[in-house]
Amino acid sequence: MKKIYADNGSTSFPKAPGVANAVRDFLDEAAFNINRGGYADSYDIAMEIFDTRQMLCDLFRAKSPAEVIFTPGVTYSINMVLQGFLRPGDHILTTSMEHNAVMRPLHALSKRGVAYDVVKCARDGTLDADDFIPLIRSNTKAVIMSHASNVCGTIMPIEAVAEICRKNGLRFILDSAQSAGTLEIDANFIDVLTFTGHKGLLGPGGIGGFVVKKEFADEISPLIVGGTGSASHEIEQPEILPDKFESGTMNLAGIVGLKAALEYIGAIGVKAMHDKKMELTTQFISELEGIQDIRIIGKKTTAARLAVVSLDFPKHDNALIAAALDENFGIMTRCGLHCSPMAHKTLNTYPQGTVRFSFGYFNTAEEISYIAQSIKEQMSGGFPLSRE
Ligand SMILES: Cc1ncc(COP(=O)(O)O)c(C=O)c1O
Repeated sequence: MKKIYADNGSTSFPKAPGVANAVRDFLDEAAFNINRGGYADSYDIAMEIFDTRQMLCDLFRAKSPAEVIFTPGVTYSINMVLQGFLRPGDHILTTSMEHNAVMRPLHALSKRGVAYDVVKCARDGTLDADDFIPLIRSNTKAVIMSHASNVCGTIMPIEAVAEICRKNGLRFILDSAQSAGTLEIDANFIDVLTFTGHKGLLGPGGIGGFVVKKEFADEISPLIVGGTGSASHEIEQPEILPDKFESGTMNLAGIVGLKAALEYIGAIGVKAMHDKKMELTTQFISELEGIQDIRIIGKKTTAARLAVVSLDFPKHDNALIAAALDENFGIMTRCGLHCSPMAHKTLNTYPQGTVRFSFGYFNTAEEISYIAQSIKEQMSGGFPLSRE
Protein backbone atom coordinates (compact mmCIF):
# COMPACT_ATOMS: atom_id res chain seq x y z
CA MET A 1 0.00 0.00 0.00
CA LYS A 2 1.33 3.44 -0.84
CA LYS A 3 1.80 5.77 2.12
CA ILE A 4 0.67 9.37 2.16
CA TYR A 5 2.10 11.75 4.71
CA ALA A 6 -0.38 14.33 6.01
CA ASP A 7 1.28 15.17 9.33
CA ASN A 8 3.46 18.11 8.37
CA GLY A 9 2.19 20.09 11.37
CA SER A 10 4.14 17.64 13.49
CA THR A 11 7.25 17.65 11.33
CA SER A 12 7.73 18.10 7.61
CA PHE A 13 8.35 15.07 5.44
CA PRO A 14 10.03 14.65 3.07
CA LYS A 15 12.71 17.15 3.92
CA ALA A 16 13.88 19.59 1.27
CA PRO A 17 16.03 18.01 -1.46
CA GLY A 18 19.67 18.41 -0.50
CA VAL A 19 19.17 18.24 3.27
CA ALA A 20 20.09 14.58 3.72
CA ASN A 21 23.16 14.90 1.46
CA ALA A 22 24.35 18.01 3.28
CA VAL A 23 24.09 16.29 6.68
CA ARG A 24 25.76 13.13 5.39
CA ASP A 25 28.58 15.04 3.68
CA PHE A 26 29.19 17.01 6.87
CA LEU A 27 29.30 13.88 9.04
CA ASP A 28 31.36 11.89 6.52
CA GLU A 29 33.82 14.54 5.45
CA ALA A 30 34.00 17.55 7.72
CA ALA A 31 32.40 17.03 11.13
CA PHE A 32 34.76 19.42 12.90
CA ASN A 33 33.81 21.72 15.72
CA ILE A 34 33.72 25.49 15.37
CA ASN A 35 35.38 28.11 17.58
CA ARG A 36 37.38 25.29 19.11
CA GLY A 37 39.86 24.29 16.41
CA GLY A 38 42.86 26.18 15.07
CA TYR A 39 42.77 24.75 11.54
CA ALA A 40 41.31 25.80 8.21
CA ASP A 41 38.69 23.04 8.05
CA SER A 42 37.21 24.22 11.36
CA TYR A 43 37.08 27.80 10.01
CA ASP A 44 35.30 26.52 6.90
CA ILE A 45 32.55 24.96 9.01
CA ALA A 46 32.36 28.15 11.07
CA MET A 47 31.72 30.02 7.81
CA GLU A 48 28.91 27.63 6.88
CA ILE A 49 27.31 28.20 10.28
CA PHE A 50 27.69 31.94 9.83
CA ASP A 51 26.14 31.75 6.35
CA THR A 52 23.13 29.92 7.82
CA ARG A 53 22.78 32.62 10.47
CA GLN A 54 22.88 35.23 7.72
CA MET A 55 20.24 33.38 5.69
CA LEU A 56 17.93 33.24 8.72
CA CYS A 57 18.64 36.91 9.38
CA ASP A 58 17.59 37.69 5.79
CA LEU A 59 14.55 35.39 5.91
CA PHE A 60 13.22 37.04 9.07
CA ARG A 61 14.48 40.53 8.13
CA ALA A 62 16.46 40.76 11.36
CA LYS A 63 18.97 43.56 11.88
CA SER A 64 22.08 41.45 12.30
CA PRO A 65 23.06 37.76 12.07
CA ALA A 66 24.37 38.08 15.64
CA GLU A 67 20.72 38.37 16.74
CA VAL A 68 20.03 34.86 15.40
CA ILE A 69 20.60 32.32 18.19
CA PHE A 70 20.69 28.58 17.50
CA THR A 71 18.88 26.24 19.91
CA PRO A 72 17.27 22.80 19.47
CA GLY A 73 13.94 24.44 18.57
CA VAL A 74 10.95 26.44 19.74
CA THR A 75 10.48 24.60 23.06
CA TYR A 76 14.07 25.29 24.13
CA SER A 77 13.92 28.86 22.87
CA ILE A 78 10.75 29.66 24.80
CA ASN A 79 12.17 28.16 28.00
CA MET A 80 15.42 30.06 27.60
CA VAL A 81 13.69 33.38 26.98
CA LEU A 82 10.93 33.12 29.59
CA GLN A 83 13.14 31.76 32.35
CA GLY A 84 15.88 34.22 31.55
CA PHE A 85 13.59 37.24 31.43
CA LEU A 86 10.74 36.86 33.94
CA ARG A 87 11.23 37.38 37.68
CA PRO A 88 8.94 36.66 40.66
CA GLY A 89 6.24 39.34 40.76
CA ASP A 90 6.13 39.69 36.94
CA HIS A 91 3.00 39.07 34.89
CA ILE A 92 2.69 37.86 31.28
CA LEU A 93 -0.23 37.37 28.85
CA THR A 94 -0.97 34.61 26.38
CA THR A 95 -3.94 33.18 24.43
CA SER A 96 -6.16 30.16 24.87
CA MET A 97 -4.85 28.60 21.62
CA GLU A 98 -1.33 27.85 22.80
CA HIS A 99 0.76 24.70 22.53
CA ASN A 100 2.22 23.17 25.70
CA ALA A 101 5.56 24.63 24.55
CA VAL A 102 4.10 27.89 25.85
CA MET A 103 1.70 26.68 28.54
CA ARG A 104 4.00 24.36 30.46
CA PRO A 105 6.81 26.90 30.86
CA LEU A 106 4.18 29.44 32.01
CA HIS A 107 2.71 26.94 34.46
CA ALA A 108 6.17 26.06 35.79
CA LEU A 109 6.96 29.77 36.19
CA SER A 110 3.67 30.36 38.03
CA LYS A 111 5.06 28.09 40.78
CA ARG A 112 7.97 30.52 41.06
CA GLY A 113 5.88 33.66 41.49
CA VAL A 114 5.30 34.69 37.86
CA ALA A 115 1.60 35.26 37.15
CA TYR A 116 -0.04 34.85 33.76
CA ASP A 117 -3.44 35.48 32.22
CA VAL A 118 -4.99 33.89 29.18
CA VAL A 119 -7.02 35.75 26.56
CA LYS A 120 -9.90 33.56 25.48
CA CYS A 121 -10.13 33.05 21.71
CA ALA A 122 -13.39 32.48 19.84
CA ARG A 123 -14.89 29.05 19.15
CA ASP A 124 -13.34 29.09 15.67
CA GLY A 125 -9.87 29.73 17.11
CA THR A 126 -9.70 33.40 16.11
CA LEU A 127 -8.30 36.09 18.40
CA ASP A 128 -9.47 39.65 18.94
CA ALA A 129 -6.20 41.45 19.71
CA ASP A 130 -8.01 44.14 21.73
CA ASP A 131 -8.93 41.47 24.30
CA PHE A 132 -5.38 41.77 25.64
CA ILE A 133 -5.90 45.39 26.68
CA PRO A 134 -8.11 44.96 29.79
CA LEU A 135 -5.72 42.28 31.12
CA ILE A 136 -2.62 44.48 31.08
CA ARG A 137 -1.40 45.32 34.61
CA SER A 138 1.33 47.55 35.91
CA ASN A 139 3.60 44.49 36.31
CA THR A 140 2.81 42.95 32.89
CA LYS A 141 6.08 42.40 31.08
CA ALA A 142 5.23 40.62 27.84
CA VAL A 143 2.84 38.80 25.56
CA ILE A 144 3.75 35.33 24.30
CA MET A 145 1.67 33.60 21.65
CA SER A 146 1.82 31.44 18.55
CA HIS A 147 1.62 32.90 15.07
CA ALA A 148 -0.75 30.19 13.89
CA SER A 149 -2.63 27.35 15.52
CA ASN A 150 -1.14 23.87 15.25
CA VAL A 151 -4.64 22.44 15.81
CA CYS A 152 -6.81 24.22 13.24
CA GLY A 153 -4.37 26.42 11.29
CA THR A 154 -5.89 29.79 12.23
CA ILE A 155 -3.43 32.65 11.65
CA MET A 156 -3.38 35.12 14.52
CA PRO A 157 -3.41 38.94 14.11
CA ILE A 158 0.17 39.36 15.31
CA GLU A 159 0.68 42.82 13.83
CA ALA A 160 -2.23 44.14 15.94
CA VAL A 161 -0.90 42.39 19.06
CA ALA A 162 2.60 43.77 18.43
CA GLU A 163 1.13 47.27 18.19
CA ILE A 164 -0.66 46.84 21.53
CA CYS A 165 2.63 45.64 23.05
CA ARG A 166 4.49 48.61 21.63
CA LYS A 167 1.95 51.11 22.99
CA ASN A 168 1.99 49.49 26.44
CA GLY A 169 5.71 48.88 26.80
CA LEU A 170 5.39 45.07 26.68
CA ARG A 171 7.80 42.66 25.05
CA PHE A 172 6.30 40.56 22.23
CA ILE A 173 7.48 36.94 22.07
CA LEU A 174 6.30 34.85 19.12
CA ASP A 175 6.10 31.08 18.68
CA SER A 176 6.51 30.64 14.92
CA ALA A 177 6.64 26.83 15.05
CA GLN A 178 3.83 26.54 12.50
CA SER A 179 4.56 29.62 10.43
CA ALA A 180 8.33 29.91 9.86
CA GLY A 181 9.01 29.01 6.23
CA THR A 182 5.29 29.16 5.55
CA LEU A 183 4.39 32.82 6.14
CA GLU A 184 6.58 35.85 5.60
CA ILE A 185 7.69 37.03 9.06
CA ASP A 186 9.23 40.39 9.87
CA ALA A 187 11.24 40.19 13.09
CA ASN A 188 11.42 43.98 13.30
CA PHE A 189 8.19 44.25 15.23
CA ILE A 190 8.82 41.14 17.36
CA ASP A 191 11.15 41.22 20.37
CA VAL A 192 11.81 37.48 20.26
CA LEU A 193 10.88 35.32 17.31
CA THR A 194 11.28 31.65 18.25
CA PHE A 195 11.55 29.30 15.27
CA THR A 196 12.04 25.64 14.53
CA GLY A 197 13.89 24.09 11.61
CA HIS A 198 11.98 20.87 11.19
CA LYS A 199 8.51 22.00 10.14
CA GLY A 200 7.89 24.66 7.45
CA LEU A 201 11.62 25.26 7.09
CA LEU A 202 11.96 21.64 5.84
CA GLY A 203 15.14 20.94 7.79
CA PRO A 204 16.18 18.23 10.27
CA GLY A 205 14.71 17.86 13.76
CA GLY A 206 16.54 19.26 16.76
CA ILE A 207 17.64 22.54 15.20
CA GLY A 208 15.92 25.90 15.50
CA GLY A 209 16.48 29.00 17.49
CA PHE A 210 15.33 32.49 18.26
CA VAL A 211 15.85 35.93 16.81
CA VAL A 212 16.23 38.48 19.58
CA LYS A 213 16.55 42.23 19.43
CA LYS A 214 19.89 43.26 20.95
CA GLU A 215 18.29 45.64 23.46
CA PHE A 216 15.97 42.88 24.68
CA ALA A 217 18.79 40.34 24.81
CA ASP A 218 20.45 42.58 27.40
CA GLU A 219 17.45 41.94 29.72
CA ILE A 220 17.57 38.14 29.36
CA SER A 221 19.93 36.10 31.56
CA PRO A 222 21.32 33.03 29.83
CA LEU A 223 19.69 29.87 31.13
CA ILE A 224 22.62 27.71 29.99
CA VAL A 225 26.16 28.97 30.55
CA GLY A 226 29.48 27.35 29.71
CA GLY A 227 32.11 27.17 27.02
CA THR A 228 31.52 29.33 23.98
CA GLY A 229 34.97 29.15 22.41
CA SER A 230 35.22 32.91 23.04
CA ALA A 231 36.56 35.09 25.91
CA SER A 232 37.82 31.88 27.54
CA HIS A 233 39.88 33.82 30.12
CA GLU A 234 36.65 35.21 31.66
CA ILE A 235 34.64 33.27 34.27
CA GLU A 236 31.60 35.38 33.35
CA GLN A 237 29.45 34.27 30.41
CA PRO A 238 30.16 36.59 27.45
CA GLU A 239 27.52 39.29 26.89
CA ILE A 240 28.09 39.44 23.12
CA LEU A 241 25.58 37.81 20.81
CA PRO A 242 25.14 35.07 19.83
CA ASP A 243 27.70 33.65 22.33
CA LYS A 244 25.64 34.72 25.37
CA PHE A 245 23.02 32.07 24.53
CA GLU A 246 25.12 29.46 22.69
CA SER A 247 27.16 27.48 25.22
CA GLY A 248 28.47 24.02 24.43
CA THR A 249 28.94 22.30 21.11
CA MET A 250 26.03 23.04 18.85
CA ASN A 251 24.06 20.77 16.54
CA LEU A 252 26.29 21.58 13.60
CA ALA A 253 24.95 18.74 11.45
CA GLY A 254 21.45 20.14 12.01
CA ILE A 255 22.56 23.64 11.06
CA VAL A 256 24.24 22.38 7.89
CA GLY A 257 21.04 20.50 7.00
CA LEU A 258 18.95 23.59 7.73
CA LYS A 259 21.20 25.60 5.41
CA ALA A 260 20.43 23.24 2.54
CA ALA A 261 16.72 23.56 3.32
CA LEU A 262 16.95 27.36 3.37
CA GLU A 263 18.68 27.31 -0.01
CA TYR A 264 15.81 25.25 -1.42
CA ILE A 265 13.15 27.49 0.11
CA GLY A 266 15.00 30.55 -1.14
CA ALA A 267 14.98 29.20 -4.71
CA ILE A 268 11.24 28.55 -4.70
CA GLY A 269 10.04 31.35 -2.42
CA VAL A 270 8.07 31.23 0.83
CA LYS A 271 4.96 32.69 -0.78
CA ALA A 272 4.97 30.30 -3.75
CA MET A 273 5.26 27.36 -1.35
CA HIS A 274 2.47 28.67 0.85
CA ASP A 275 0.23 29.29 -2.17
CA LYS A 276 0.63 25.70 -3.28
CA LYS A 277 -0.18 24.36 0.21
CA MET A 278 -3.26 26.56 0.36
CA GLU A 279 -4.42 25.31 -3.07
CA LEU A 280 -4.24 21.78 -1.68
CA THR A 281 -6.11 22.87 1.46
CA THR A 282 -8.86 24.57 -0.57
CA GLN A 283 -9.20 21.40 -2.63
CA PHE A 284 -9.35 19.24 0.51
CA ILE A 285 -12.05 21.35 2.17
CA SER A 286 -14.12 21.39 -1.00
CA GLU A 287 -13.78 17.61 -1.52
CA LEU A 288 -14.94 17.04 2.07
CA GLU A 289 -18.26 18.68 1.27
CA GLY A 290 -21.11 16.25 1.31
CA ILE A 291 -19.35 13.61 3.43
CA GLN A 292 -21.71 12.76 6.26
CA ASP A 293 -20.84 12.97 9.95
CA ILE A 294 -17.66 15.01 9.85
CA ARG A 295 -17.07 18.47 11.28
CA ILE A 296 -14.32 20.86 10.19
CA ILE A 297 -12.96 22.46 13.35
CA GLY A 298 -12.08 26.14 13.43
CA LYS A 299 -12.60 28.29 10.38
CA LYS A 300 -14.49 26.62 7.56
CA THR A 301 -12.71 28.59 4.84
CA THR A 302 -9.07 28.94 3.83
CA ALA A 303 -8.83 32.67 4.60
CA ALA A 304 -6.16 33.50 7.20
CA ARG A 305 -5.24 29.90 7.88
CA LEU A 306 -2.46 27.45 7.19
CA ALA A 307 -2.59 24.07 5.48
CA VAL A 308 -3.77 22.47 8.72
CA VAL A 309 -7.29 21.00 8.86
CA SER A 310 -8.67 19.36 11.98
CA LEU A 311 -11.68 17.10 11.62
CA ASP A 312 -14.00 15.72 14.26
CA PHE A 313 -15.98 12.58 13.54
CA PRO A 314 -18.80 13.07 16.08
CA LYS A 315 -20.17 9.54 15.76
CA HIS A 316 -16.82 7.84 16.12
CA ASP A 317 -13.67 7.71 18.18
CA ASN A 318 -11.27 10.05 16.39
CA ALA A 319 -8.27 7.92 17.39
CA LEU A 320 -9.86 4.90 15.74
CA ILE A 321 -10.57 6.88 12.59
CA ALA A 322 -6.92 7.98 12.42
CA ALA A 323 -5.76 4.39 12.96
CA ALA A 324 -8.17 3.12 10.30
CA LEU A 325 -7.00 5.73 7.78
CA ASP A 326 -3.45 4.53 8.34
CA GLU A 327 -4.20 0.80 8.29
CA ASN A 328 -6.75 0.76 5.48
CA PHE A 329 -5.49 3.56 3.25
CA GLY A 330 -1.89 4.34 4.29
CA ILE A 331 -2.76 7.90 5.33
CA MET A 332 -0.62 9.34 8.13
CA THR A 333 -2.31 11.94 10.32
CA ARG A 334 -2.19 12.94 13.97
CA CYS A 335 -5.12 12.48 16.30
CA GLY A 336 -5.73 13.57 19.90
CA LEU A 337 -4.92 16.88 21.54
CA HIS A 338 -1.80 17.87 19.56
CA CYS A 339 -0.04 19.02 22.77
CA SER A 340 -2.64 21.80 22.95
CA PRO A 341 -5.40 20.87 25.41
CA MET A 342 -6.44 24.47 26.00
CA ALA A 343 -6.83 25.07 22.26
CA HIS A 344 -9.11 22.04 22.09
CA LYS A 345 -11.14 23.40 25.01
CA THR A 346 -11.46 26.68 23.10
CA LEU A 347 -12.55 24.84 19.95
CA ASN A 348 -14.94 22.63 21.95
CA THR A 349 -13.12 19.45 20.93
CA TYR A 350 -11.88 18.48 24.39
CA PRO A 351 -11.37 15.72 25.47
CA GLN A 352 -12.01 13.80 22.26
CA GLY A 353 -9.52 15.83 20.20
CA THR A 354 -9.50 15.76 16.43
CA VAL A 355 -7.89 14.05 13.47
CA ARG A 356 -5.47 16.59 12.04
CA PHE A 357 -4.51 16.66 8.36
CA SER A 358 -1.55 18.95 7.74
CA PHE A 359 -0.26 19.29 4.21
CA GLY A 360 3.20 20.10 2.96
CA TYR A 361 4.75 21.47 -0.18
CA PHE A 362 5.42 17.96 -1.48
CA ASN A 363 1.82 16.73 -1.24
CA THR A 364 -0.02 16.55 -4.56
CA ALA A 365 -3.58 17.21 -5.77
CA GLU A 366 -3.93 13.45 -6.44
CA GLU A 367 -3.01 12.69 -2.84
CA ILE A 368 -5.58 15.17 -1.57
CA SER A 369 -8.30 13.53 -3.69
CA TYR A 370 -7.20 10.13 -2.45
CA ILE A 371 -7.38 11.29 1.17
CA ALA A 372 -10.87 12.81 0.73
CA GLN A 373 -12.06 9.69 -1.10
CA SER A 374 -10.59 7.44 1.61
CA ILE A 375 -12.40 9.40 4.35
CA LYS A 376 -15.62 8.93 2.36
CA GLU A 377 -15.06 5.18 2.04
CA GLN A 378 -14.09 4.92 5.69
CA MET A 379 -17.26 6.69 6.73
CA SER A 380 -19.49 4.57 4.52
CA GLY A 381 -17.79 1.34 5.58
CA GLY A 382 -19.52 1.29 8.99
CA PHE A 383 -16.28 1.14 10.96
CA PRO A 384 -14.48 1.81 13.25
CA LEU A 385 -16.15 1.69 16.67
CA SER A 386 -18.82 4.21 17.52
CA ARG A 387 -18.34 6.54 20.46
CA GLU A 388 -21.87 5.93 21.77
C1 LIG B 1 2.58 25.70 17.95
C2 LIG B 1 3.80 24.93 18.34
N1 LIG B 1 4.65 25.42 19.24
C3 LIG B 1 5.76 24.78 19.61
C4 LIG B 1 6.08 23.55 19.07
C5 LIG B 1 7.36 22.86 19.51
O1 LIG B 1 8.37 23.12 18.58
P1 LIG B 1 9.80 22.38 18.66
O2 LIG B 1 9.60 21.01 18.10
O3 LIG B 1 10.69 23.20 17.78
O4 LIG B 1 10.23 22.40 20.07
C6 LIG B 1 5.24 22.98 18.13
C7 LIG B 1 5.55 21.65 17.55
O5 LIG B 1 4.83 20.71 17.62
C8 LIG B 1 4.06 23.69 17.75
O6 LIG B 1 3.22 23.19 16.85
